Amino acid sequence: MLLRAQDLHSGYGEMEILHGVSMTLDKGEIVTVIGPNGAGKSTLIKTMFGLLKITKGQVHFNENDITGKHPRELVLQGLAYVPQTSNTFPSLTVLENLEMGAITRRTSPLPLPWNRTQRLATQKPMNDAEIRERAAGVIEMFPNLQPKLRERAGTLSGGEQQMVALAKSMMLDPTVLLIDEPSAGLAPKLVDTLFSKIVEINGNGTAIVMVEQNAKKALGIAHRGYVLETGRNRFEGTGEELLHNTDVARLYLGG
Ligand SMILES: Nc1ncnc2c1ncn2[C@@H]1O[C@H](COP(=O)(O)OP(=O)(O)OP(=O)(O)O)[C@@H](O)[C@H]1O
Ligand SMILES: [Mg+2]
Repeated sequence: MLLRAQDLHSGYGEMEILHGVSMTLDKGEIVTVIGPNGAGKSTLIKTMFGLLKITKGQVHFNENDITGKHPRELVLQGLAYVPQTSNTFPSLTVLENLEMGAITRRTSPLPLPWNRTQRLATQKPMNDAEIRERAAGVIEMFPNLQPKLRERAGTLSGGEQQMVALAKSMMLDPTVLLIDEPSAGLAPKLVDTLFSKIVEINGNGTAIVMVEQNAKKALGIAHRGYVLETGRNRFEGTGEELLHNTDVARLYLGG
């Protein structure tokens, strides 16, 4: 088991949004989380990534208890997160975005307060030359970005920007990638391109938790899925099972 959330309770301020959500991710898997607007899907991945206070429940990553750990520490342990919005630096070029993607692993001559967290890290720090080398490798995985490297990310199309966000997260060479609604606002053809890229990343050894509104297509590429509703688990199963579950289809897949 790579990632396990158990009975998670969390929310914003006094307002509890997750009322005991559980999920697991195994090595090699793509797990998708679907459910209506406001169900708590984004909240679930933000909570696992250490962005929200957990009031009850635990998160384990690689058998380590990471409940309440800071995202900076989680990144160094091999967890990466692509947010639903604002997931690139629009005024930086594509190449600069990639370099920024590795900033949390960059070696620093300064005695930064978080350097001590590197003791727990499984990811080795990278110097500038290693970051450039890693960027070259990531660009090979995303050949469509090659001609755009010197363009500002904010000037690219929606689909290209999602590719930049994904590529940026791959700079960390994560063991587990948490992706929030990568296909939001994309035309169907671009969704297919993006999902193929996600399958390719998964095939190269990164396990993936993907939140999606595009439920049918997401279940189509997922090994397993979870349906959330009002901050609780509603259904779970293999991608196939959920696609063919009549209740899931009626309630969440548009019949
Ligand atoms: N920053 C925030 N402050 C306060 N409440 C929030 C915040 N973000 C989300 N919420 C509330 O938490 C609930 C769950 O939101 P969340 O973003 O997790 O839903 P979601 O399942 O990702 O929905 P969507 O499909 O629209 O992205 C909603 O009622 C939402 O209004
Ligand atoms: Mg969301």
